[in-house]
Amino acid sequence: MLTKAPRGTKDILPGEVEQWQFFEEKVRELCRLFGYAEIRTPVFEHTELFLRGVGEVTDIVAKEMYTFTDRGERSLTLRPEGTAPVARAFLEHKLYGAAQPLKVYYIGPMFRYDRPQAGRYRQFHQFGVEVFGAMEPSLDAEVIALSLYVFRALGLEEFTLQLNSVGCPLCRDAYRICLQEELKDKLSRFCPDCADRIHKNPLRILDCKQESCQELTVDVSLMLHKLCGDCAEHFAAVREAMDALGEPYVVNPRLVRGLDYYTKTAFEIVSPVLWAQSSLGGGGRYDHLLATIGGPDVPGIGFGIGIERVLLARAAAGRVLPESKLTDVFVATAGNVSAAAALRVVIDLRGQGVAADKDYLGRSLKAQLKFADKKQVRYLVILGDEEMKRGQAMLRDMQTGSQSGVALTDLTSMVARLVKEANR
Ligand code: HAM
Repeated sequence: MLTKAPRGTKDILPGEVEQWQFFEEKVRELCRLFGYAEIRTPVFEHTELFLRGVGEVTDIVAKEMYTFTDRGERSLTLRPEGTAPVARAFLEHKLYGAAQPLKVYYIGPMFRYDRPQAGRYRQFHQFGVEVFGAMEPSLDAEVIALSLYVFRALGLEEFTLQLNSVGCPLCRDAYRICLQEELKDKLSRFCPDCADRIHKNPLRILDCKQESCQELTVDVSLMLHKLCGDCAEHFAAVREAMDALGEPYVVNPRLVRGLDYYTKTAFEIVSPVLWAQSSLGGGGRYDHLLATIGGPDVPGIGFGIGIERVLLARAAAGRVLPESKLTDVFVATAGNVSAAAALRVVIDLRGQGVAADKDYLGRSLKAQLKFADKKQVRYLVILGDEEMKRGQAMLRDMQTGSQSGVALTDLTSMVARLVKEANR
């Protein structure tokens, strides 16, 4: 127990962290180009926010939340997703008073108590974006396009964009009744989850993964064909905007998504590689979420991408970055030269912007050289008794093997120049 991380969580170790940093660099740059500012919200929120925002009958809220009571008797929940917290922050700080639309992005951990498997964790990380204050279909297309650009910037080409409209309260309420009517005679043949969903959230039946449930709904009416005029027009305009961008997509009328706040546009990006957990990311419009949690009726749209899944897909595509080299210069000591003298040189080099390090284990010169070699440093500085007396140090280029004496007074500036050239 003491030496094992909790089930469903993972350490990101040195050597692996490069993949994460690369992901973050790419998405931050894309967000800059697309005009999104970063937002950071707490990892826990009042439980009520998710009950109301995400929906009490969703799997996330009903089965997967990490909820606890704090010492002040408040019910708090580790965020299972990022949209409701960002919407809460938008209201709390009256960001609807700022120029609209407001475009924000976040990168951070989310928590869901689900059965862990490849690509599914209890603590996982999402990159997400949210835009508030605009209804125009071209915004839907921009948000969807941004998610696709993320995958491409990360070297992933093999994915499918699935698109649907889940309607608005007006047409969805009517459709829900129609669906319940169509399914009522088959009630006993559904899985226990779906039997429950028929009363509480019948749309979710359409994306049940159980084959027997899928068979029972093959010929039911679909939301997409029951949209009201406004929703149908919006969906047509989103499709037109996607076509204008030349972005291919598949209309999946059974795409429902697992969160209750969606209205109109819903989308998911699916990878063929991660067969068990194939959803790399998903999102959609949530035009009434802010009103649901007590704010003005400001529309919104966004998506979330699972970082672990993207990195798994990158690994499957053979796109793993090498471990980054931390040290450019190693300062070794020979004879009676003190560790403190080496530390002085190392600190001076760092002051010049050079990644430098030294030995801290009292190793012999031979062992120090071996260590420097293992760390793949480019330059080695050797401080020896004789050379030091003459005001000199030895400088070795580990790549070419060439070695020469350098005046201690010139050492830092010279090494800094060489390293800069080598790293160019
Ligand atoms: P979601 O579909 O629940 O949407 O999650 C988005 C992505 O997070 C998934 O496509 C998947 O890549 C990743 N993900 C979800 N659960 C796990 C897990 N247990 N382990 C690993 N990865 C996981 C949302 O969360 C919405 N907030 C997205 C959104 C933003 N919609 C509008 N704005």
